[in-house]
Amino acid sequence: MRSIITLALSQAVVAQNTFTTSNWQGQFASGSGVLQSLKPATDTSFDFSPSDYFSLRNGVGNYHTGDITLRWRIQGPSGWNDVDTSAQRDADPQTTSGNGSSLLHSTFDNVYPNIPISISRDWTTQDGDLVLQATIKNKNASTVELGAFGFPIEFNNIFTNRTADDTTAKCVLVDPYIGLDAGYLQVTRLTGTGPNIVITPHGNASKFEAYRFLNEDPSQPTGYQTQVFEGLYAWQTLSKAYAENEWNATNPWNVPTSVTLAPGQSVSFALRFGIAQNVYDIEDAVASKDVPVAVGVPGYVLPVDMNGKLFLNTKSAVKSIVIEPNSALAFTTTTAKNSAWKAYDVTASTGAYGRARATIQYEDGRAQTVHYYITDTSQNTATKLGEFSFSKQWYTDSSDPFHRAPSVMTWDDEVGQIVLQDPRVWIAGISDEGGAGSLTAASMKSAIMPDASEIQKLEQMANTAVWGWLQDNVTDAATGSIKYGVKRSLFYYDPAALPDFQYDSSIQWGGSWNKNDSYSVWRAYDYVWVSVLYWSLYNAELAAPGILTVQNSTWYLEKAYQTVIASQAVDENGQPITAYADVGLMGETVWLYILKALRAEDMNTEADAVEAAMKKREQLWSTQSNPFGSEMAWDSTGQEGVYLWAKYFNDTATVTKTLNSIRGYMPTVAHWGWNGNARRYWDFLYGGKLARIERMIHHYGSGLNSLPILDDYKYNKEPSSASAMYDLRIGYGANMGSTTNIRTDGSSGNAFHSYPDTLKWDAYSGDYGPTFLGHIAGSRTYLVEHNDFGWLAFGGNLAVDGNAVTVEPKDMVKRGIYVAPLGLALDIDAGVIKNFEYDASAKSLVVNFDKVDGGASTATLVFEDTLSSGVKLTTAGLQQQRGGYAVQLPGSVAFSIA
Ligand SMILES: *[C@@H]1O[C@H](CO)[C@@H](O)[C@H](O)[C@H]1NC(C)=O
Ligand SMILES: *[C@@H]1O[C@H](CO)[C@@H](O)[C@H](O)[C@H]1NC(C)=O
Ligand SMILES: *[C@@H]1O[C@H](CO)[C@@H](O)[C@H](O)[C@H]1NC(C)=O
Ligand SMILES: *[C@@H]1O[C@H](CO)[C@@H](O)[C@H](O)[C@H]1NC(C)=O
Ligand SMILES: *[C@@H]1O[C@H](CO)[C@@H](O)[C@H](O)[C@H]1NC(C)=O
Ligand SMILES: *[C@@H]1O[C@H](CO)[C@@H](O)[C@H](O)[C@H]1NC(C)=O
Ligand SMILES: *[C@@H]1O[C@H](CO)[C@@H](O)[C@H](O)[C@H]1NC(C)=O
Ligand SMILES: *[C@@H]1O[C@H](CO)[C@@H](O)[C@H](O)[C@H]1NC(C)=O
Ligand SMILES: *[C@@H]1O[C@H](CO)[C@@H](O)[C@H](O)[C@H]1NC(C)=O
Repeated sequence: MRSIITLALSQAVVAQNTFTTSNWQGQFASGSGVLQSLKPATDTSFDFSPSDYFSLRNGVGNYHTGDITLRWRIQGPSGWNDVDTSAQRDADPQTTSGNGSSLLHSTFDNVYPNIPISISRDWTTQDGDLVLQATIKNKNASTVELGAFGFPIEFNNIFTNRTADDTTAKCVLVDPYIGLDAGYLQVTRLTGTGPNIVITPHGNASKFEAYRFLNEDPSQPTGYQTQVFEGLYAWQTLSKAYAENEWNATNPWNVPTSVTLAPGQSVSFALRFGIAQNVYDIEDAVASKDVPVAVGVPGYVLPVDMNGKLFLNTKSAVKSIVIEPNSALAFTTTTAKNSAWKAYDVTASTGAYGRARATIQYEDGRAQTVHYYITDTSQNTATKLGEFSFSKQWYTDSSDPFHRAPSVMTWDDEVGQIVLQDPRVWIAGISDEGGAGSLTAASMKSAIMPDASEIQKLEQMANTAVWGWLQDNVTDAATGSIKYGVKRSLFYYDPAALPDFQYDSSIQWGGSWNKNDSYSVWRAYDYVWVSVLYWSLYNAELAAPGILTVQNSTWYLEKAYQTVIASQAVDENGQPITAYADVGLMGETVWLYILKALRAEDMNTEADAVEAAMKKREQLWSTQSNPFGSEMAWDSTGQEGVYLWAKYFNDTATVTKTLNSIRGYMPTVAHWGWNGNARRYWDFLYGGKLARIERMIHHYGSGLNSLPILDDYKYNKEPSSASAMYDLRIGYGANMGSTTNIRTDGSSGNAFHSYPDTLKWDAYSGDYGPTFLGHIAGSRTYLVEHNDFGWLAFGGNLAVDGNAVTVEPKDMVKRGIYVAPLGLALDIDAGVIKNFEYDASAKSLVVNFDKVDGGASTATLVFEDTLSSGVKLTTAGLQQQRGGYAVQLPGSVAFSIA
C-alpha cells in the first residue's frame, strides 16, 4: 500500500516533458527543462530544434533555448558576477509541471543557493504560441543591479555531417532585428518555403538590446563555430555589464542598460515563439503580437542624394524620433495610401556618413530603433573607389619577383599599405576572391564609369601582370602551364624557389602554398575575375569610345571569351582541367554580358561555344535536387550562376528552387546590417585581416544574391503583392548594403564584423570586389505602386503630381529602370537615364537620357515587355543596332500600352 502511494505522489510532481499547443508540438529536456524539440503543428515531421544532435551537445557549457545568462552586483562599484545556467548543466533546477497555461515551472535556488537573487523560469503558452519567461527576484537586504540578461537561442543551424539535401530539409538560420521593444528574431527554413518561427518580446520589459555570440568549447562533435555550425547567440534584454567591459571599444547598436531591484523586488523577461507560414508573412506575424513594425524604402542604406521613406505599423502614437548622430537624418511626416500606416520622408544630411540610429519613442512607453547607414552619393562613391584603387592600391614595383606589378592589390586599412605578404598567399597574389577582389572592384568601376587615366592603368595591368603571368599565355607541359589557365596566386611562399627574397619572419608560414601550388590553374572560380577584367575594358570602350590605348575592344572581348571557355576545358583524356567548373561561380553574371557582347559583335561561333558550355552546366543543375554546391559544405554563392543560366535556358523549376533557397538566407529587417544580408560567416578566414568564424555583415553574398532576386522581380505578375515586395526589399537591401563597405576615402572593407566587441569594417579590402560586382550588375531604379504605401521608387527620387509620376534615378549606374505598372524593363549601355515620366492614366512613359563627360554620344537601348502587357516603343525612326535601338545622347524615347 505504502509504496503505491509514494509512487502516485512522485508521479504528481514529476514534470511532464512534452507539450502540445494549437501551433506547436514540443519537448523539454528532462532535468534541465531546456527546449529539446519544437515542431510546427502543421508539419510535425520537421523540427526547428536540433533534437537529433541533442545528446551530443547536452553537456556543461552547451547552450539551449531556455538557458538563462545574467550578470548581477550589489549596487555600487563592485565587479559583475555571472550566472549562466548552461555552465551548471550537471545541477538540475527544481522543476514541476505547470498549471493552466503554464507548461513547466523551474526554480534555480538549489543551483545558486549563495547569490542575492532568486531565479525562476516558466514555459507557458499564449494563444497557441510558446512563451519563455524568466523572473529574477532580489532576496537580499541591499539593492541589486542586473547589468546583463540574455536568453540563449538554439535552433537547428547545425549543418555538421549532413548531406546538402538533409541540410536544406532539416536546418534553419536565425536572423535578428536588434530594435529594442520592436526587435524580433526570425528563424527561417533553408527551403525558403516556411513555416518559420518569429520570436517577439512578450510583455514590455524584454527589449532586444544586443545580440551576443555565445562561446562554447569548439571541440564538441557538432563542430561549434566552424564552417558547418556558425554557433549560437543570446537575445540580450540588458547589456550594460558587457558594454562596460568586453565591448568597451565599440559603439553598440543600442544604448546599453541595466535594471536595479530593491529588496524584495522582481523583474520578468519573456519571449514569445510564434509562427509565420512564409518569409513574406514575418512582419505581419510580428504585428499580430502587437509589436510595432517598421518598413524602410528603399531600405536603410541612404546615399545623401537619395530620398527614403519609412512606414510604421503601430497602434500607438509616435511621441518623438531622436536621431544619432544628431541631424544625420531628417524625418518629415507624410501620408501613406493606407492611413493605418504612419509615414515619413527620410533624407540624409550632406556630409553625413556611416551609421545613424533613429529611436522612435511611442506614447505607450515602448521604443524602437531603426538603424541606417549613410553613404556619399553613389556616383561619388564609385569615383572615390576608382581613385583609391588606382592610387593607393596601385602597385608599381617592376622589380617584384612575383611579377605582380603593375596591379590593383589588396589594401590593409589599419597600416595604410598594400598587402605584399600574407600566409594566405592569394590575398597578396591577385587571385582567389581574397586577392582578386580589388582588381574586380576596379574593373567594374571602369566598366561603367571609365576614366581615361584609370583605363590606361587597367590596360597595363591586363597586358603585363595578367596576360602572361596571372594567366598563362602558352601551353607548356614542362612548366604545367596551360594557355588561358588562371593561376591560384602570383605570390607564393617558397624560400627554395626564391632564396634571395625576404619573407616576413614575423609571419607563421606553415601551410602556405609553394610556387607549384600557387601556379596551378585548377580553380575555376579564379577565371571569372580575369574575364571580368577583360570584359570591363571591352565595355569601357562602348561607354567612352576611343578610351582604349593599348589593345582594341575586340582583343579584350576575345580574351574574355577564351577565359570563359578555358574554365570549362578538358584535357586530352576528357578530364576537366579545372575543379568546380560545374557549380555556380561567383560573378558569372558577367559571362552573360560576354555572351551578349559576342552576339552584338557578330562573333557567333564564339557565342555558340559559350552558350553550349553553359547549357551543359545548366542541364546538370536541372537534374540535381540541390544544385548549389561549392568548395564549402553549405554555401550561398552558387545561386547567382544557377539562377542566371536556369532563367536563360527557361528551366522554371530550377529558377523557383534557387529563388526559394535565397529567401531562406536573406532577411529584411529595419537595420542596414541585416537587411538583405545573405548568410556568410566563414570568409574572414580566407579574405579578412581579423580571421575568425563570425556572422559577416555585407560580405559578397549580399551583392551577388541581390542579382537573382532583383532580376526575378521584373517578371513578377503581381509586383505590389506581399511576396513580390518582400523580394524587392531583400534584393534592394542586399544591393545597397554592398556600398556600405566603401569608406569615405574610397578604400573598402571585405565585410563588417558583427560581434558586439568589434562592430567595424575588416581592415583588408580582400574579397570586396565580388560584392561591388553584384552592386553594379544589380544597379537599377524600380517604380511600383504599392497597395498600402502608394508610389514607391527603389533607387531614385520620386515626384508625384496627380497621375504624373516622375523618377530621377540615383542608383550607381543609372542605365537601367523597371516600370512595374507597364512591366517594362529598359537598359542603355552608355550615358545615363536622367529621369523618366510615367503617366498613370494614359499608361505612357517618357525616358530622358543624358550624355556624360567624355562618354559616347549614342547608346544602344534594349527593352523587354516582361509581363507581356503589350507595352510598345512609340518613338519612330530609331535605327536598330546591337540587338536594340540607337538613341542619341542627350535624347528621349516614349512608350505606351496601345
Ligand atoms: C500556477 O503556476 C504559477 C507559476 O508557477 C504560480 O504562480 C501559480 O500560483 C500557480 N497557480 C495555481 C492555481 O497553482
Ligand atoms: C546579500 O548579498 C551579499 C552578496 O552575495 C551577501 O554577502 C550578503 O550576505 C547578502 N545579505 C543578505 C541579507 O542576504
Ligand atoms: C508594461 O509597463 C507598464 C508600465 O510602464 C506596466 O504597468 C504594465 O504592467 C506592463 N505590462 C506588461 C505586460 O508587462
Ligand atoms: C561527424 O562526423 C565526425 C567524423 O566521423 C564525427 O567525429 C562526429 O562525431 C560527427 N558529428 C556529428 C554531430 O554527427
Ligand atoms: C575595457 O575593458 C577592459 C576589461 O575588459 C579593460 O581592461 C580596459 O581598461 C577597458 N577600457 C576602457 C577604455 O575602459
Ligand atoms: C607570354 O608572356 C610572357 C610574360 O609577359 C612574355 O615574355 C612572352 O613573350 C609571352 N608569350 C607569348 C607567346 O605571348
Ligand atoms: C604541382 O601541382 C600540380 C597541380 O596542383 C600537381 O598535380 C603536381 O603534383 C604538383 N607537383 C609537385 C612537384 O608538387
Ligand atoms: C581590333 O584589331 C583586330 C586586329 O587588328 C581587328 O581585326 C579588329 O577588327 C579590331 N577591332 C576593332 C573594334 O577595331
Ligand atoms: C526561352 O523562352 C523564351 C520565351 O519563350 C524564348 O524567346 C527563348 O528563346 C528561350 N530561350 C532558350 C535558350 O531556349
